[in-house]
Amino acid sequence: MNVLLPPTVVRGMKIFDINKFTKLISVPAIEVDTQNIASASKILKNQLLKFTNFKSIRDSGSNNYKRVFLLNPLKVRSFDDLNLPFASPEHFSHTDVKLTYDNWKHDEILRAILPESSMLTSYSAIGSIVHVNLKPELLEYKNVIGQVLKDKIKGCKSVVNKTDNINNIFRNFEFEVLSGSSDLQTSFKENKCIFELDFSEVYWNPRLCTEHERILEKLNAGDLLYDVFAGIGPFSIPASKRGCTVLANDLNPNCCKWLNVNKKLNRIKDDRLTIINKDGSRFIIEDLKAHLILYSKTLTNDNDNKVHVTMNLPAIGIEFVKYFNNLFEWDEISDSFLPILHIYTFVKTNESYETGLHLVMAEHNIKEEDAQEIIRVRNVAPNKEMIRITLQTTKEMLCKSSVKRKTEEQENENPKKTK
Ligand SMILES: C[S@@+](CC[C@H](N)C(=O)[O-])C[C@H]1O[C@@H](n2cnc3c(N)ncnc32)[C@H](O)[C@@H]1O
Repeated sequence: MNVLLPPTVVRGMKIFDINKFTKLISVPAIEVDTQNIASASKILKNQLLKFTNFKSIRDSGSNNYKRVFLLNPLKVRSFDDLNLPFASPEHFSHTDVKLTYDNWKHDEILRAILPESSMLTSYSAIGSIVHVNLKPELLEYKNVIGQVLKDKIKGCKSVVNKTDNINNIFRNFEFEVLSGSSDLQTSFKENKCIFELDFSEVYWNPRLCTEHERILEKLNAGDLLYDVFAGIGPFSIPASKRGCTVLANDLNPNCCKWLNVNKKLNRIKDDRLTIINKDGSRFIIEDLKAHLILYSKTLTNDNDNKVHVTMNLPAIGIEFVKYFNNLFEWDEISDSFLPILHIYTFVKTNESYETGLHLVMAEHNIKEEDAQEIIRVRNVAPNKEMIRITLQTTKEMLCKSSVKRKTEEQENENPKKTK
């Protein structure tokens, strides 16, 4: 048994009792003259007794010219284990130290409480909200887990547990507040922007930060971004802040409410970011189409600005690619404004990632060689990965009259053969 860990009586605790964590341990100690404190601290650095909220160098009760260094009993058993030229064995002793709940971190405490067979492996922090996804066998410990995380994680005001798979259309979680405030409004930073949200109203996953950043790196000032499933704006807000013109859409009116709040918080100019609240298919057919036609007609794209479309709704977003087929008349869109689609989807990896990927691509009629990039974003469950397919659209794909136009071109090139 490791004496430095919380007492064994806490194992299996289901009703939080702070007093059960208090214990006395006997630890080695060495008295050092005040003039030698700096060199002793250096020499004993790896042998000191370390806990959170704990002073391992203390005043010596009786002597103002001495300090007591408390040492780790697992590393020091006798004076001979020390290499202190200015100390002698009579300065070495053992002393009792009181440890309490305050002295351990959340993972040490939870490892001591929960059954060894089912530990809490991870949590996410969203501003002041800590979010866990408890396995069924940990549910009986949920109150204690909530209490420990709230007490121990800096800045935490609420701990929530996901109670259901995300199965509503807005992708926000069903959850239960395990401890702290049930007001789930919070703010945080991502990619140098401030975001505010109410976690009970909208979708947010802090694990997508790297992917958000990967997309933002592809965007330059002057580019266009159509964000079909924008959420609270992790693509749209930083993109418009960097000088892109953005149309951000979400079906959830609360996302639009928070997009507006985040637009203000990040001081984004009004004309840089337009916020729209409708189904993604209507957004593509109506708003994206009209906006891109206007751009194609009025601008020459001298700066080679790009048009990006983000479609982050992995459960069904790939189904929306079909709305780009034959969306324009041949003359409505210029070659220099052909959108690049960033499509998110899930891949089942039961057999292998490659097999799952082939299946998804075949099912949605996307040729792997047409993809500019395929990125494995994250594992969402055993045998399930979220991926991104980045696809450069072509005029043939986007334009209604492309079939007719192709035939006309062939006829012009080779009049005899086609007659
Ligand atoms: C997975 S979240 C992604 C949000 C954000 N882009 C991000 O990366 O965090 C998907 C978003 O799509 C929205 N949504 C769901 N169905 C939709 C639809 N048919 N049309 C438009 N938005 C939809 C949800 O409200 C949710 O905010």
